[in-house]
Amino acid sequence: QLSGQGSGALEGAHCVVTAGPTREPLDPVRFLSNHSSGRQGYAIAGALAAEGARVTLVSGPVAIDPPHGVDLVKVETARQMLKAVEEALPADVFVSVAAVADWRPARAATKKLKIKGAGSATPSMELAENPDILRTISNKRKHRPSLVIGFAAETNDVEEHAAAKLKRKGCDWIVANDVSGDVMGGTENEIALVTQDGIDRWPRMGKDAVARRLAQKIAEALDGSGD
Ligand code: CTP
Ligand code: CA
Repeated sequence: QLSGQGSGALEGAHCVVTAGPTREPLDPVRFLSNHSSGRQGYAIAGALAAEGARVTLVSGPVAIDPPHGVDLVKVETARQMLKAVEEALPADVFVSVAAVADWRPARAATKKLKIKGAGSATPSMELAENPDILRTISNKRKHRPSLVIGFAAETNDVEEHAAAKLKRKGCDWIVANDVSGDVMGGTENEIALVTQDGIDRWPRMGKDAVARRLAQKIAEALDGSGD
């Protein structure tokens, strides 16, 4: 992905992309998280940069290198991710690819939790709901990006769930990913792009191809909106 490969169609646009998991601390050494690799989000950030966009990539902890030419902002928790996204605004496009933890431990201990000896009671963990970053950005009055895109990984009734998510979040597009087969953690994705206008089903393709196609769609949409 050399930045010379794109068409320059996104020259002058600012895109903010979230990627990877978030980490929600329980104490200084323990956290709640998920298996997101960050690969699809990083590929999208790279594809947008390749089209000439200025890209702010807000990323949870991942094991991969950022694509060439993007501004990387590293975060851990969902609340830090929301703050970093808000600080990156204004933007023309927001693409929410991160697997944000829906809940966090309600209280993070400042010292490591200790077992109190044989037969002592197992602690229980109270959870608190994290902010919904996609919904928050979608509903901004000031500085709402003109195009707000969410992702939805679903195992069943993919298009119905995605259409419901589009409404619930108030975003413009949902990239629905069918994870019922063997795509989870793999290199290929099966995508349906859900918008207010309907559903566009894409053939099964690699995550880089998904990223390039999405970047092209974004460029077309911004072009059409008179930017
Ligand atoms: N998302 C977010 N902040 C959250 C939860 C989700 O920004 N706290 C975003 C994700 O980045 C993704 C979209 O919302 O773009 C959908 O995430 P998903 O987990 O599929 O949907 P949820 O609304 O969390 O519903 P559920 O997990 O129950 O399917
Ligand atoms: Ca979720």
